[in-house]
Amino acid sequence: MEFDAHRSTAVCEPVPMSGGANRPRARSGRPTRESYDRVALEYTRNVADELDGKPFDRAFLERLALDARGRGIVCDMGCGPGHVGRYLADLGVRVVGMDLSTGMLAEARRRNPDIGYVLGDMRALPVDDGVWAGIVAFYAIVHLLPDELPQAFAEFARVTRTGGRLALAFHIGDEVVHRDEWWDHPVDLDFILHQPSAVGSALDSAGFHDVTVAERDPYPDVEYPSRRAYVEAVRD
Ligand SMILES: C[S@@+](CC[C@H](N)C(=O)[O-])C[C@H]1O[C@@H](n2cnc3c(N)ncnc32)[C@H](O)[C@@H]1O
Repeated sequence: MEFDAHRSTAVCEPVPMSGGANRPRARSGRPTRESYDRVALEYTRNVADELDGKPFDRAFLERLALDARGRGIVCDMGCGPGHVGRYLADLGVRVVGMDLSTGMLAEARRRNPDIGYVLGDMRALPVDDGVWAGIVAFYAIVHLLPDELPQAFAEFARVTRTGGRLALAFHIGDEVVHRDEWWDHPVDLDFILHQPSAVGSALDSAGFHDVTVAERDPYPDVEYPSRRAYVEAVRD
């Protein structure tokens, strides 16, 4: 996804939070879930083909597929319309998708009838220990507060087998971007930017090693103009 904005920064210009600076405030998952339910169709129309214009992301996923293929199931966490998992599945990876939003899951199922999808919250995964060979979470931690990352990463570590891979993508920064409208639908979404160093040390504490970070600039005219981090790690 990206805040709004994979394609048109004009349509999707983010609105900095006012009053009390851009500091994250505590949120439950409900506003996020309901917001994505409302925009699921438009999100799919606008974002589901985005990898066509993102060569860096395709190469990143191709490397992950080389490592993960034949090793078990990889979860596309916060899958949205499922295009990231689709890309991996087409490269021979066994994929399951998970998302908080039933609307998003309906879109993912419609587009990818050969892939299984499960409703779930990354902060409390409805999954047994050690069942996955890897997790890819593209722009999925973007609604988690910094102090929610340890809980989510502990869950990622719990459900990933030893040697399994984790791959994250997110917007780099310290601010929070709020949207109350998206594609003409009312939403209540805080997009929380993260620093790669903080994400890396939270992963390390949660039980991952060999944390590597790559950064890239946004693709002009395709993406919201934030710098992006692509983080890989291996389960201890
Ligand atoms: C910005 S979209 C990214 C979707 C897709 N991965 C992509 O790259 O376009 C964020 C997705 O994460 C899901 N999500 C947000 N919070 C979540 C949580 N706590 N657990 C699981 N999914 C969550 C949202 O419903 C939404 O589909």
